[in-house]
Amino acid sequence: MARYFKYKSVADLEAENTRLGIDLRFADDLSPLFRPLTMGARTVGNRWCIHPMEGCDGDLDGRPGELTFRRYLRFGAGGAKMIWGEACAVNHEARATPRQIWLNESTQPTFAKLVADCRAAHRDANGDDSDLLFGLQLTHSGRYSYRPVLATHDPLLVGRGRVTPDTPLLSDDELKRLVDDYVATAKLAVSVGFDFLDVKQCHRYLLNELLGARNRPGLYGGSFENRTRLAREIFLAVRAAVPSHIILATRLNVFDGIPFHMGEGGDGTPDAWAAPLANGWGMAADNPFTPDLSEPLRWIAEMRTLGVQLVNVTMGNPYAQPHYGRPFEYPPPDGYESPEHPLVGVDRHFQATETIQRAEPDLAIVGTGYSYLQEFLPQAAAANVRDGRVQLVGVGRASLAQPDWVHQLLEHGTLDRKRVCRTFSYCTALMRAKDHPLGQFPTGCPPFDKEGYAEVWKEVQQLRAKKEQPGTTQG
Ligand SMILES: Cc1cc2nc3c(=O)[nH]c(=O)nc-3n(C[C@H](O)[C@H](O)[C@H](O)COP(=O)(O)O)c2cc1C
Repeated sequence: MARYFKYKSVADLEAENTRLGIDLRFADDLSPLFRPLTMGARTVGNRWCIHPMEGCDGDLDGRPGELTFRRYLRFGAGGAKMIWGEACAVNHEARATPRQIWLNESTQPTFAKLVADCRAAHRDANGDDSDLLFGLQLTHSGRYSYRPVLATHDPLLVGRGRVTPDTPLLSDDELKRLVDDYVATAKLAVSVGFDFLDVKQCHRYLLNELLGARNRPGLYGGSFENRTRLAREIFLAVRAAVPSHIILATRLNVFDGIPFHMGEGGDGTPDAWAAPLANGWGMAADNPFTPDLSEPLRWIAEMRTLGVQLVNVTMGNPYAQPHYGRPFEYPPPDGYESPEHPLVGVDRHFQATETIQRAEPDLAIVGTGYSYLQEFLPQAAAANVRDGRVQLVGVGRASLAQPDWVHQLLEHGTLDRKRVCRTFSYCTALMRAKDHPLGQFPTGCPPFDKEGYAEVWKEVQQLRAKKEQPGTTQG
């Protein structure tokens, strides 16, 4: 197993940066991260954003559950001034897992309590919540729904997860009808107090899959205009349906990084059913592993005219190519090793985000890829904000490990080293673990949040050991 992270200081990282020929930067002065940012009529109090992260801990009817509340209370208290709420389904079929949160009329009161409690926790710990922005990610999981539906016959992922040759392809009419679901969920999200609404277009869920649907016939595939059509219809309809002070946002893949034109199924075997092949999004025509940002840039410019004010830049597919989206040191449980130095992955995020931020200097952009930097994350974040490479810094896994990292920085100038995320991938392992009686284990940070997840982790290990015992069948 390759191990990379042996850096004891910024100087070590700078030497590695030179060796790898990449462009990571570090600054000791963290003050740029604590300057407010104005976004339309709202001001966000600092440059820290907690990335959307599903806890897979909702109740079966879609209500946020006990652990969901716990997580957002900790996030609220933690001091980041932007909390990007996790993937929330826009209808029952859109759910990725039976425990994904789903906002509808019957779950609305629990969501309202979640928002109010998170804001109260923020006020208690930070004094003022007028400069805290809390948003929600509206999603349709498409092929990753637990009853999957396809936007394209994309060869890479055939045979993975729950997709089978019988998985239905959504018709143009079915896609069009989804606009109403997004609007209904958006209105409910506003009624419970969210400040911004993210129409999710990333990680190869439905709207992202459509962005790359070059070979889909009909209204939603082929040309750039067609591939962006459904998202465009959603933005227009949502903008018209919600008050103007509500910020329209999107989490956008700018690079899918999935192979195409393979002529074979995702398991590597020739698969005639996989045709016709669909391209991805943000990839060079001659090399799917090289970003080509021309279409993402064009789409971001157009989304601004549709009213989008906040863009969270991300990439990859967590099921097929997890190293792109979340560079890691320790592989997830399927044993997927990073095929590149994880710092190269971090640099890919930073460079792509910089290109977009420079093209749209006054757009609020959130960057990704910071958790891998461990205790040096703040210095990299400060340099990127200082240099205008990005306006806001998104933190994912590291905020599960240490949700109060902003307080740590304000009080001590450094992170608490005993709780720094080491990218062990336990959070991913919990998400992928099977055989929970409710269909899904909740996820969090077992190594550094023992009170919340040590028991869950133990249960998963016991189940795994039982499965691995020769002659044992799963009951
Ligand atoms: C447990 C877990 C759940 C996640 N859920 C979501 C999600 O709901 N929506 C989303 O856009 N990304 C999701 N992500 C991806 C993160 O938001 C983030 O992009 C990724 O972890 C990389 O950031 P990091 O390096 O700071 O962790 C999830 C990641 C993890 C580890």
